[in-house]
Amino acid sequence: MKSLVILISGRGSNMQALIEASLPGRIAAVISNRPGAEGLEIAEMRGIETQVVDQRAYPDRIAFDAALAEKIDSYQPDLVALAGFMRILGDIFVNRYHGRLMNVHPSLLPAFPGLDTHARALQEGVKIHGCTVHFVTSQVDHGPIIVQAAVPVLPDDTAETLAARVLQQEHRIYPEAIRWFLEDRLQLSHNCVEVIDATTDGAVLYSPGLHK
Ligand code: GAR
Repeated sequence: MKSLVILISGRGSNMQALIEASLPGRIAAVISNRPGAEGLEIAEMRGIETQVVDQRAYPDRIAFDAALAEKIDSYQPDLVALAGFMRILGDIFVNRYHGRLMNVHPSLLPAFPGLDTHARALQEGVKIHGCTVHFVTSQVDHGPIIVQAAVPVLPDDTAETLAARVLQQEHRIYPEAIRWFLEDRLQLSHNCVEVIDATTDGAVLYSPGLHK
């Protein structure tokens, strides 16, 4: 059975969605770069091993990344899943896990990489927003896209209401993408990911629509 290690920095709701998804693989450990991350407690309550690699204990990115990689490798995971891991990882780290390092990001990449994605989407007046699961490359919030989910932006949305609607979709697509990986159904070539035996109803998404 394949295994994964999940990296978090905070609340851990995506991690929790992965734990609850009954994935066809074993969650070997949850590792945080922040000792107080709320998600650590949730993982412990579910009987999952947790570790902290405190970024403040290391003089620079290279030293932190090396310590993190050493901790991850002690579990020999097939996949490393970033779930709200809010620290930029350096090239050496990213290359080490090429093709087996995934991230979920709260926007329809390549739009809105970085922080405050929902407020920026509202500011730009986009009508459709969403989330993306992708393989990680050394360019932050870029990399081959595995799956995306879109939500309409509603006239009275605030960053908070939009974030909540997007987060629901994150919780849906991240477990799905990881399931595909664990089932060997993702084929990565150049910058494109093919999902073997993906099913689609061919629906068209558009917004604004009828929301009342
Ligand atoms: C999620 O919305 C995730 O997409 C985002 O942080 C939040 C973490 O929430 N990640 C990024 O912005 C990465 N660029 P969670 O801790 O409840 O899963």
